[in-house]
Amino acid sequence: MKFKNEVSKTLMGSLYSRAKDEYDDLSVLACDYIRKNELASGGYYKHAVQRTEIMDREVTKLIEQFPDATYVNVGCGMCTRFYRLDNGRLKWIEVDFPDVGEARRAVLPNEQSKRHYFAGKDLNSESIDDLKADFVIAEGCLMYLEPRAANAIICYYDGIYEVCGSNRKDFPGKWKWKYNWETMDLNVIAKYPFWHDTSDHWVMRIEHGKLGNKKS
Ligand SMILES: C[S@@+](CC[C@H](N)C(=O)[O-])C[C@H]1O[C@@H](n2cnc3c(N)ncnc32)[C@H](O)[C@@H]1O
Repeated sequence: MKFKNEVSKTLMGSLYSRAKDEYDDLSVLACDYIRKNELASGGYYKHAVQRTEIMDREVTKLIEQFPDATYVNVGCGMCTRFYRLDNGRLKWIEVDFPDVGEARRAVLPNEQSKRHYFAGKDLNSESIDDLKADFVIAEGCLMYLEPRAANAIICYYDGIYEVCGSNRKDFPGKWKWKYNWETMDLNVIAKYPFWHDTSDHWVMRIEHGKLGNKKS
């Protein structure tokens, strides 16, 4: 399968990195998929494994506190966090470009249940408000969004966010994507304590009041 958006190829780098580290059991399935479809993996990124481990830990804490909440995983790519952390009660919605949904359905079983499903959206032009998130999870995604779109998510939803330092703005790649982070409003981020630091990738919990409330 060919992705319509060049940036979607970055999901292969995250996936391949986890598979190489054997962190993610389900990534084995997806790696078969990569081979079959002759898609470039994008190489190995240690930080992509670190951030997954860190985010699993933080999302686990959140789920323990809010076991029945709705979690929206933006820029999900081939993320399999739901399968690792599902408590049998929460609702988990995966969001990415619609064709990424096709890729997920090709390798991940039983994705379209009431509690776990995929919603295709271009996050630069479409809101996630209709999904009624209590919490947003963003791993390896915000830096690719237009600053306005990334800020719209960070500023309005509680969640666990990975953000990227401005020193990665010229991130080299063979694909036609780049980080948009250099124009992101870092003042918004600076207000929040970093929970973890994997060199220039930070994972943090951003809270805006009580469960389910958007910041006014
Ligand atoms: C580096 S991958 C990370 C995937 C996954 N979160 C992970 O850590 O394995 C970035 C993901 O963000 C998605 N993405 C980037 N821009 C997007 C947009 N405007 N709308 C929806 N998804 C987007 C890409 O399609 C891709 O799946």
